[in-house]
Amino acid sequence: MTTFPDGFLWGTATAAHQVEGGNVNNDHWEMEHAEHSPFVEPSGDACDSWHRWAEDLDLVAGAGLDTYRFSLEWSRIEPAEGEFSRAALDHYRRIVDGCRDRGLNPLVTLVHFTMPRWLMHDGGWTGPKTGDRIARFAEFAAPALTDAEYVATINEPNLMAVQPVIGAMARRGEQITGLPVPDQEVAEALIGLHGRTMEVLRGAGSRPAGMTLVGLEYIDEGGGSEPLRAARAAMMDQFLVAAEGDDFVGLQIYTAQRFGPDGLVAPPVDQQTLAHGMERRPEALGAAVRYAAGVLPGVPLLVTENGIATADDDDRIRFTEDALRGLAAAIADGADVRGYVHWSLLDNFEWMLGYAPTFGLVAVDRETFARTAKPSLAWLGEVARRNGLI
Ligand code: FCB
Repeated sequence: MTTFPDGFLWGTATAAHQVEGGNVNNDHWEMEHAEHSPFVEPSGDACDSWHRWAEDLDLVAGAGLDTYRFSLEWSRIEPAEGEFSRAALDHYRRIVDGCRDRGLNPLVTLVHFTMPRWLMHDGGWTGPKTGDRIARFAEFAAPALTDAEYVATINEPNLMAVQPVIGAMARRGEQITGLPVPDQEVAEALIGLHGRTMEVLRGAGSRPAGMTLVGLEYIDEGGGSEPLRAARAAMMDQFLVAAEGDDFVGLQIYTAQRFGPDGLVAPPVDQQTLAHGMERRPEALGAAVRYAAGVLPGVPLLVTENGIATADDDDRIRFTEDALRGLAAAIADGADVRGYVHWSLLDNFEWMLGYAPTFGLVAVDRETFARTAKPSLAWLGEVARRNGLI
């Protein structure tokens, strides 16, 4: 039996815009409905988790997991600039309480990709007033999070800084085969916003706080060491260094990137998954955790996302089991990892790709919103109960 450290957290995650439904007041809704939108379909009702969150928590707790990660939707809490909704914040406070009532540790993300429309039209992430605005939002939200186990400031600022680059490539009609390098201005702006949010949370006596980063395994296919190093510096190193001194770093690991002398090398077609053509690479989890632990030896790590978009739930189990073996080996070699949170609880709105990629441990009927647990949910619950793999 491969075991995990005592007190290791086992959970699953969602994000507001991907599951709540009816988030008509954020930038993504607007982009989904724009002419020539790169989104294949709008988010619409999503999984109706705005109303069905209690059922979602029952599924997590019922399976034997002990942690639930979810996010606040800024555009509901501050629908117009400076106009705050106590009722919306209370909704999230009830979810935090609902977690605790069921024995679940809430891991709450303040910003998971979306921003209110008013912010989108007045500076966005790089705007000069956005630091003050995110600080004010965090200050308003913090009292609802006093019973959270962990608070994450911004979800994947390193991926958010890549999004404008992908958008520009798409507009030029260029083919996107792997993750391009982040836009440095956006990267620096988001690192600054994370810092402002941390200051507010610290001042409010918050629970342990940090950011979550997309993590990758970087593979040199031969002669690729220079482009690999440059890509990793832009995507990982500058963000990991910025997390020094935080209470934790969340890592969200799905795949690897391969490099040759001319840069990125696309994965073989038969290894590509249903989402973004990402390579199916369970080994990436252990590798990316080892790398982060090496750069930040003093900062506890949490796996805040890991999973696979597949219609084959047996393969989800195989993938996750292999990934967890790599994680256990990294921990045995000294990485300080405090928990594993699987993406995702539900089949949900996978951003530009819409509802086709299915990352869920639970299927959701697109018309009735009925939830049907897949075998992988019970399987992960068993792993959690054992705190290990047989
Ligand atoms: C991550 C996002 C998450 C989900 C997964 C598949 O980059 O944080 O919302 O879309 O990818």
